[in-house]
Amino acid sequence: MYTQALNEKAPSRDANAPPEDAKMLARFQAVVDAEDKIEPNDWMPPSYRRTLQRQISQHAHSEVIGMQPEGNWLTRAPSLKRKATLLAKIQDEAGHGLYLYSAAETLGMSREEYYEQLLSGRAKYSSIFNYPTLTWADMGVIGWLVDGAAIMNQIPLCRCSYGPYARAMIRICKEESFHQRQGYEIMVTLSRGSPAQKAMAQEALNRFWWPVLMMFGPSDKESMHSADSTKWKIKRFSNDELRQKFIDATIPQGQHLGLTFPDPNLKFNDATGHWDYGEIDWSEFRRVLAGDGPCNRQRMKARQAAEANGAWVREAARAHAEKRRQRSAAAKIAAE
Ligand SMILES: [Fe+2]
Ligand SMILES: [Fe+2]
Repeated sequence: MYTQALNEKAPSRDANAPPEDAKMLARFQAVVDAEDKIEPNDWMPPSYRRTLQRQISQHAHSEVIGMQPEGNWLTRAPSLKRKATLLAKIQDEAGHGLYLYSAAETLGMSREEYYEQLLSGRAKYSSIFNYPTLTWADMGVIGWLVDGAAIMNQIPLCRCSYGPYARAMIRICKEESFHQRQGYEIMVTLSRGSPAQKAMAQEALNRFWWPVLMMFGPSDKESMHSADSTKWKIKRFSNDELRQKFIDATIPQGQHLGLTFPDPNLKFNDATGHWDYGEIDWSEFRRVLAGDGPCNRQRMKARQAAEANGAWVREAARAHAEKRRQRSAAAKIAAE
């Protein structure tokens, strides 16, 4: 996981910034239009840079915070095989965070600055990770649906105009595909299991379905800030288009499991060839984003504690690097 269209205000232009050079801007747009990549040292409009700094870092934060709901079940996985698989999946998410922080750093802001934005609550992360994981079936549903939604969102990002982001996404998407399959396989096992196991799978689907649909961000009617992202080829599909693609792909998978979706308005529309679905509760989405979801405080507290508990490791690494630097400087002097 996961980038999320959060419908925040596009970063405003610096009041004192020099007017963008029209020639540079035209050259930049020509590269983008030709589907070539913008690289870190290329000229880019300041608003393009800020948009990507925000999007990539929030994506990285989501990967890292996203380890918590699944970490909750590591010690209670039902078998050694399940535990090893879940552990590998969660470690992948840590890796995704690291690639993405590296990509975000190429835009001229340090990792520490991005961390600070997360830890101080100024930066957002995907709303889905503020929901609790109450049963083992939630591990199935998260892989199947949350990673599934992430893939839908992230495949188009492999063609993003910013080179380091696009390249990071290629590897991330391959791993997300494994995550989705491991989740679906848990769901297959549970839904073919005892009545209690099937009920547990159904109950997890009931709880996660609507929050997962919210992962794609506000509806296009309310999403006012995607024009620039589209022109810059950061965003290729609208929130509603991605949500519809996800629903169309997911319903048959749920039917294969013999599960039902908690939406009485879900109906295949012969005229459009798509599934129609009910109204999303956007007030819940806004509440969770604003910090008032079931687990927001718990997630931030755990992240802040991890940062504080890791302080001595960073300190030791710095001291070690300094010692090595001094040693090699001394060796250099002795050799002269
Ligand atoms: Fe991920
Ligand atoms: Fe994942």
